[in-house]
Amino acid sequence: MLTTQTRLPPSPPAPRSWQTLNWLVRPYPYLDACHQRFGRVFTLRLHAFGDLVMLSDPDNVADLFRMSPDDARPGEANELITPVVGSESLFVLDGEPHARRRAELRSSITTRPPIDPDVVSSLTLAELPSGGGEVAANTLFRWLAMRLIGYQLFGTASPDVLRPLAEQLHWLLGPLGSTAAFFPPLQRNLGPASFGYWFHRRIEAANAALADAVRQATALAAAPSTVERLCRGRGGGSADRLEGTLRDDVVTMIVAGDDAMASAMSWTLFWIARTPRVQERLLNSLPPGATPEQILDNDYLTAACQEALRITPVVDMVARTTTVPVSVAGFDIPVGSLLSAAIYLVHRNESIYPDAASYRPERFLDRSYRPSEFIPFGGGLRRCLGANLALFELRLVIGTILANYQVAPANPEAGELRYARRNVTVAPADPLLARLIPRRR
Ligand code: HEM
Repeated sequence: MLTTQTRLPPSPPAPRSWQTLNWLVRPYPYLDACHQRFGRVFTLRLHAFGDLVMLSDPDNVADLFRMSPDDARPGEANELITPVVGSESLFVLDGEPHARRRAELRSSITTRPPIDPDVVSSLTLAELPSGGGEVAANTLFRWLAMRLIGYQLFGTASPDVLRPLAEQLHWLLGPLGSTAAFFPPLQRNLGPASFGYWFHRRIEAANAALADAVRQATALAAAPSTVERLCRGRGGGSADRLEGTLRDDVVTMIVAGDDAMASAMSWTLFWIARTPRVQERLLNSLPPGATPEQILDNDYLTAACQEALRITPVVDMVARTTTVPVSVAGFDIPVGSLLSAAIYLVHRNESIYPDAASYRPERFLDRSYRPSEFIPFGGGLRRCLGANLALFELRLVIGTILANYQVAPANPEAGELRYARRNVTVAPADPLLARLIPRRR
């Protein structure tokens, strides 16, 4: 019921800068602490975003995802990444322009299968030491994710084409680029002595690397690429000229897909390596050298990937700006507030996931979850466009590793949960060293 008196749910008394720092540096423990103190609904005051009302009750989250796109606008909430993704990016559009662009992108990335499974397996194997040994999993997966998205978008995974692009984009998505995204004053270009100057130079360098990659890829591509399908869908145009909306679409998909995939692969390997019981069951059900078909048929592996996305969701929350007054859990939320589905907290809700802090893939075999209970890909009309592709690739990459190697944490601290925020995603902290022991055939 609405009243004229509006008020936000309680917030930690700490200054905004301190709340922002905590959310950036120790996202999961900070959300846990706020939840313990204030319960299912509280407000985080963050720089760049504003006041975020965090919702962790699945019923509240379901209501949020059901709100009309005119009343709850994610585009406004995502505005802080505009300098990188561009003003025509799906992330920052709302209303009719968003719906039209989303339909175009959906038809160009939704293919069956979403990507050639043999390509995913062979790209994975190519990055692994054939005789076994130690690998830096984060670094490996960041590069593999770039090759996979490169193949998906441009039809080639050639290192020569993708390496310069990866260098530029990984800087923008890394600690320095992310800091600029979350503290917009840092983006101001005040001349060569300012951080903003170098930030914008990096964006220009990324645009140039992207244009080069597309030109080279168009000459090389063996398979029809998403970029070509996008061009065809828009009535022609040349895939080797990357401008305007096409540029923003391509950057959006790289930004959306690359880092999230890399973090998801790292977390899944992290959990499997540190949970011997789960790894044993996976190794027993995947014969050495298992084929992509056998990997995709393995329900326990699918559950292991879903459980990793649950316990350590790579995107910890999604937000919508309200354009109408909303009543949630007894609070009358004023227009212009940010309502957020606190993905991490929903996934740690003990009444849905008993023993929520334990990695137990079985829970995904024992029961199914409502769309507002398992939300690693967000929800409603803005749910991740790459969700099917992401889960398909995750199962294939992790399955290919386990079909060929047994995995153990190589640095003692790799058994502990340590996080690194990479823009909007949360990854295990570097270095995540893993020891790969080849399986006997
Ligand atoms: C494990 C990997 C991934 C995770 C966890 C993930 C998660 C998410 C989340 C949480 C959102 C926001 C949803 C919302 O606001 O409700 C999103 C949006 C999006 N994702 Fe993903 N994503 C992943 C991989 C991918 C991939 C591989 C692609 C494409 C190739 C992709 C493309 C997109 C796009 C285009 C959007 C914007 C949708 C819109 O605003 O309409 N994602 N993703």
